[in-house]
Amino acid sequence: MCGIVGYIGNDSAKEVLMNGLERLEYRGYDSAGIFLLNRDGEGSQLFKEQGRIADLEKKVSDAQTTNMGIGHTRWATHGVPSAENAHPHQSNSGRFTLVHNGVIENYDSLKQHYLTDYQLHSETDTEVVVNVIEYFALTEQLDAKSAFKKALTVIEGSYAFGLIDNEEPGKLFAAKNKSPLLIGHGEDFNTIVSDAMASIDLTDQYIEIHDGELVTLTDDAVTIETADGDVLTREPYTASLDANELDKGTYPFYMLKEIDEQPAAMRRIVQTYQNDAGELTIDEDIVNAMLASDRIYIIGAGTSMHAGLVGSQLIEQLNGIPVEVHVASEFAYNMPILTEKPFFIFLSQSGETADSRQVLVQLNQLGYDALTITNVKGSTLSREAKYTLLLHVGPEIAVASTKAYTGQIAVMAILADAVRQAQGKAAPFDMGQELSLIANAMETMIDEKDHIHEIATDLFTDKRHAFYIGRGMDYYVSSEAALKLKEISYIQTEGFAGGELKHGTISLVEDGTPVIAFITQQNTAAHTRGNLEETRSRGAQTAVITTEALARETDQIVLPTVNELLTPLVSVVPAQLLAYYASLDRGLDVDKPRNLAKAVTVE
Ligand code: F6R
Repeated sequence: MCGIVGYIGNDSAKEVLMNGLERLEYRGYDSAGIFLLNRDGEGSQLFKEQGRIADLEKKVSDAQTTNMGIGHTRWATHGVPSAENAHPHQSNSGRFTLVHNGVIENYDSLKQHYLTDYQLHSETDTEVVVNVIEYFALTEQLDAKSAFKKALTVIEGSYAFGLIDNEEPGKLFAAKNKSPLLIGHGEDFNTIVSDAMASIDLTDQYIEIHDGELVTLTDDAVTIETADGDVLTREPYTASLDANELDKGTYPFYMLKEIDEQPAAMRRIVQTYQNDAGELTIDEDIVNAMLASDRIYIIGAGTSMHAGLVGSQLIEQLNGIPVEVHVASEFAYNMPILTEKPFFIFLSQSGETADSRQVLVQLNQLGYDALTITNVKGSTLSREAKYTLLLHVGPEIAVASTKAYTGQIAVMAILADAVRQAQGKAAPFDMGQELSLIANAMETMIDEKDHIHEIATDLFTDKRHAFYIGRGMDYYVSSEAALKLKEISYIQTEGFAGGELKHGTISLVEDGTPVIAFITQQNTAAHTRGNLEETRSRGAQTAVITTEALARETDQIVLPTVNELLTPLVSVVPAQLLAYYASLDRGLDVDKPRNLAKAVTVE
């Protein structure tokens, strides 16, 4: 949800900002802009464009070289995607320039209260904020930092801000509340970035900014102040991002690369969670927290929530602890009655999802402990939960999540196995060995790309609706398969409980409607086959994703047989590929589907 990058140093700010914005484009790609200035106050230039970073690139090609600036790539919240609504936004006099990620909830009342004499040129909440800063600077004769600080006291909502004052060149100001923002620190430069990957080519040293702090950057100094004006010292940490991992290489799209990376990611997860004796282990405190709980609540959004559904089965079946899975945005404002000893698991690839964070903030206030399972070390949900387990699947850039889903399930499987061991229960199977077999099974599916492409073309060409069906685990994977297909191909797809179709929804099935069934669980296989047949008799074009153990001759996609509890790790792979090829066949931008962004940092 919007990406911010700011730079102050000796290099060309334009190059740094444009490279950074390209890296952050996954966070929003409706419009983009940069503001450039020299540290002596000369060379002020503003460029904004609707569309992708590539569109902005054309506009900035003749820009004068400067050594500081701020840039932004937008996912529209207030106001349509347009050059006017693109960031950076400037105050009426042109003195202040601001980039913003987040949502200002009281922008309307701020406008009425402070800006009756101001002319606003966009529909954005950000333009209101930059003018409120100017209002305080002018009416109270405040310098940039004091005006910014004063403005922060009247603003309500979520934000990561980068600010430049033409009258105090040589300084970059930043502040955050709920939205992510980091300082990238180098020898003779500093950056502000929504994500370390934006300036990882320049530095691997990053400093966290906490909510409510105000930061002043020069080329050689970083000053962090609390709202009370206390100056803090905070050491940088080393970001463990490999710049090479951020490139697509020879792949046409990140999504295909990330699907292909899943077997290696499975093996890396097993290795990372193995001790010297080759046994899978999880931090004892986390295991004890699980053991002490009478119910586990898994919270997540979208694909992460779907991974939670599979995780709930793993924990219930291996540990016998009841689990509830909740959509974060629902849980936040409609909290269920909790049991006496609840324990909370947050699943989030980015670790920045605002809906999930809203829940975590509330639970922290209530004094509950939580575990975040995330791909991003140091992310907000990781920092704010008592415990963290990392996915170790490498950066996920495509908007449609693939390897994070399977990574989350694998880490939950290892966690459930560790809790089982602590409970003194016998192992139903060797988890490490099984996950290694799963990596091989994933590879088998990935090797069938061409076959899966043919099925996708056959099923989805010119189709507007589709269904995935299944029962139990297969229903959970159906939900994820449907989300994958709809979000990148725009085919309206439902993931449905096989047995429930006949209670109403089957009326949507007509001649040629694609219905794909997951049949990987012995106890429900016959019933799901029956349900699929019911749709076929009504004209559906059907397909089956099944295991060797349950396959019939006519089944289209047959997976190597793995332990039933873990089949989602393999059965989701052909569904990811079906979605990928459906999108590719339609000529769509697979990695950047319309209206979406990766880390969703607004509620
Ligand atoms: C879909 C997808 C989203 C995310 C959701 C939560 O492919 O990626 O549904 O899963 O926005 O994001 P995280 O996992 O970063 O909390």
